[in-house]
Amino acid sequence: MNMEIKSRFPIFTEYPDLVYLDSAATTQKPDTVIAGITDFYQRGNANIHRGVYPLAAQATERFEGSRDKVQGFINAQKREEVLFTAGTTAGTNLVAQSFVLPRLEKGDNIVISAMEHHANLIPWQIVCEQTGAELRVIPMNTKGELDLGTYSSLLSNTTRMVALVHISNTLGTINPVEEMIQEAKKKGIPVLLDVAQSIAHYSIDVQALECDFIVFSGHKLFGPTGIGILYGKEEWLNQMNPYQYGGDMIRDVTFAKTTFAGLPNKFEAGTPNIAGAIGLGAAIDFLTSIDRVKALQDLKNVQSYAESSLLTLNGLKLIGTAKDRTAIFSFALNDIHPHDIATFLGEEKIATRAGHHCTQPIMDFFGLPATTRASFSIYNTTTDVDRLVQTLGEIQAFFS
Ligand code: ALA
Repeated sequence: MNMEIKSRFPIFTEYPDLVYLDSAATTQKPDTVIAGITDFYQRGNANIHRGVYPLAAQATERFEGSRDKVQGFINAQKREEVLFTAGTTAGTNLVAQSFVLPRLEKGDNIVISAMEHHANLIPWQIVCEQTGAELRVIPMNTKGELDLGTYSSLLSNTTRMVALVHISNTLGTINPVEEMIQEAKKKGIPVLLDVAQSIAHYSIDVQALECDFIVFSGHKLFGPTGIGILYGKEEWLNQMNPYQYGGDMIRDVTFAKTTFAGLPNKFEAGTPNIAGAIGLGAAIDFLTSIDRVKALQDLKNVQSYAESSLLTLNGLKLIGTAKDRTAIFSFALNDIHPHDIATFLGEEKIATRAGHHCTQPIMDFFGLPATTRASFSIYNTTTDVDRLVQTLGEIQAFFS
């Protein structure tokens, strides 16, 4: 593990004992992201796309500069294909309502997987309810691997969208999305990919993937909360109606009629999260400045160490044991309630998440009300793993 990387995150200087294992919920922020946001409010604050005075022009330049950084980061063909949203959830809702709903009829279907986060499930369920279309679910096995044979058979000439998670926030499964996208493409079906959990660690190239839409949140890749990205192919975005109406998204307004701005403004009504976009740009600068290949290898090393260490605890059951997965460990420990585990861990300065992780259907599948989840990122060390495993042992002894 790269101590140089950890030293870039001021929270660990503030709390040297903190073992932060909740990066699937939100990542910690590097110094340059915090500085970028502070600097904007201290030296650069003005609204964008409106004022002609220098401060406003600079704010616009920094905001739009972040769009360019995102474009480069995901290799979008055009900057207009990169839309700022409030986060992953805002992106899936926008696509469901503006792209899918107008194309969906009774008798059509939408395909999702059994391991979707609620943010990539409910928006599709709602448009199905609104139209009488069917929500089809790709099943998974008890390891948390999708059944690709069934996936293929679920796709039909009435499938209007495939919406897939790249990495499961609960199980850690890395889905074979390249292959799955190609399967949908062969049948001319658009695909939305939820890369919220993968984009911090894996390179996401929208042109190579050939996906139609991707969604992610800034705060899961070391940026601020309240900002996210919806990438969409220009061809689709041009055909879609705006999702929200208001300032900064219009061409001309009269009481009789309004015409809308072109991309990307058409989908960015109202004053956006300017500081958030600038912070996200700083997060991308941070990621492009580090050796990402090494950071991923270090994370994989911590992952293997964590897996073998956790499995030394009798009574610990991993929920999600897919062959291809990342450093997200959901587990059950004897019959101790996950909230008791997470509370106990919290008292020992170990941050984990307990609950259904916004994936209730996964809990139903495994017959559990909740799990405890330890999720790792590039600043975690094998010492963090040791603290976790030792404390879990103490929790077992306490509850036995
Ligand atoms: N989606 C986030 C998580 O998995 C909040 O915890």
